[in-house]
Amino acid sequence: MVIGPQLQLDSAHLLGRFASLSIWHLRTSILMAMALSLIVNSSLTAQDSDEIYQRRILPLLQSNEKSSCSECHFRGMDLKEYFGNDPLVTFATLRGLGWVDIENPEDSKLLGFLQKQPDKDSDKLLEKVRKSEYESIRLWIETSIREKKYLEASPIVPDDLRLSKDLVLHTRRDQVETRFVDAIWSQLGRCVNCHSPDRNAKQVSEHGEQMTWILPSDPGATLRLLVDRKIINIDNPADSLLRTKPLELVEHGGGPKFLVHSNTDQQWLAFLVDYSKTVRQEGYKVGDQLSAVDKQRSWLSELQVRVVDLPKEWAGKHMEVRLHRVSENGESEKHFVAQGESSINPKDLLWQNALIIYSPKPMSLRAGVSEWIKPVATSVAVPNGVYVLRVYLRESGNTNAEKDSQDKGTWVGDLKVNAPWPPGYQPPKIVSWKDRLKEVKAAVKRK
Ligand code: HEC
Ligand code: HEC
Repeated sequence: MVIGPQLQLDSAHLLGRFASLSIWHLRTSILMAMALSLIVNSSLTAQDSDEIYQRRILPLLQSNEKSSCSECHFRGMDLKEYFGNDPLVTFATLRGLGWVDIENPEDSKLLGFLQKQPDKDSDKLLEKVRKSEYESIRLWIETSIREKKYLEASPIVPDDLRLSKDLVLHTRRDQVETRFVDAIWSQLGRCVNCHSPDRNAKQVSEHGEQMTWILPSDPGATLRLLVDRKIINIDNPADSLLRTKPLELVEHGGGPKFLVHSNTDQQWLAFLVDYSKTVRQEGYKVGDQLSAVDKQRSWLSELQVRVVDLPKEWAGKHMEVRLHRVSENGESEKHFVAQGESSINPKDLLWQNALIIYSPKPMSLRAGVSEWIKPVATSVAVPNGVYVLRVYLRESGNTNAEKDSQDKGTWVGDLKVNAPWPPGYQPPKIVSWKDRLKEVKAAVKRK
């Protein structure tokens, strides 16, 4: 077996990491890399399992690089967590996990994990890491199973939360990205005009490049960018700019986009908290609730509604509308198919918003990003028919977080509408609160 080139590959890789630093650093690391390969080349005779571990596995663990598993798994899948300083204990643990097959080492599950690659756009750096992990670990396993002391070490069965099936699934990158699409991407219609590069040229020229943080059609890359730019705050998810800007808890050039404790806020916050727990080592604990696998999909539609002629006393209040279908027998159905909320414009006494629509059928998160990224069709969520727009007032503002989030609002009346209507706000669907009063009066007269 040739050991030298492998580690040289690692030193080149080390070099690559330093290349972005200053020339001074670069020179130092060239020297370091040279020194490293000298050490390696002078000890090519090492062949027993312990020594292979020392020379090839330990350096992998000591590097600052994440293991290749991180390309698809967020948590609990860093090889460093399974490979300790003692090769025997590590071997026994891997056997306990069922990751090493001593009869057919080639078929070891761990080697299978190390051969998995994303379908497209694999990270070049991780590809190198993966290759060196695979080669070193394979060599070490193949050598170990020829040594008595390794074979005789009884497997250690770890009682390990990280490997609970539910958590492995929950923290898989594709699942996390799918939940991002479900909670946040589905609503970015509120932000694209100013924050997506296909539409924000003017905004960028006025305010700078940082205006762009949406990467069209790529929720995974968008999520990574939000994390890298610290727009998502892992340590204090509720303080993420992604949340505090559109709530205008901090100054926002785009003004308020939704209200504190509105459904949108609750949904975004739940994702941010979940994300933080997913990526932090001290995140999820035994017994924690993980989100359900089947979910009802929602999407910010272009069904704009404007309610005019609202009572003066309601100026500035937090108003929510829910769209219920009226069935053949004239009764409105219990569940609503669309929803919207914002505050009542105090000057014009009108309320306007785009509605969030709900898909009638739940979908599995396992369906993945490619399915979840498809918008919910308005025609499916809101089929042609007669509806009532049920109006609620909620205690507005961020006075009492707990009370607000439980506040389901006070029902103040219904408005009849035919839906759906053409998308966009030129014009929106306009309904008058006064007309509703007329309708009610007419109904009373008839009695
Ligand atoms: C290219 C993506 C990808 C990479 C890289 C990857 N995994 Fe996975 N992993 C998956 C997928 C998808 C599943 C679920 C489907 C399955 O069980 O095959 C999974 C499931 C698992 C499971 C739970 C199911 C089981 O078979 O026990 C474990 C544990 C696991 N991976 C560990 C790892 C480790 C350790 C690494 C790195 C050495 C790794 N994975 C690298 C995609 C990946
Ligand atoms: C009408 C234009 C407009 C819309 C729509 C808009 N914003 Fe903004 N946003 C701005 C402007 C202008 C800035 C730069 C000034 C500032 O930082 O407040 C900004 C800055 C931000 C920043 C800070 C970015 C950084 O890295 O500095 C975040 C985060 C943000 N907005 C989130 C949102 C979210 C989330 C939405 C949608 C729910 C949204 N914005 C909708 C105009 C808009």
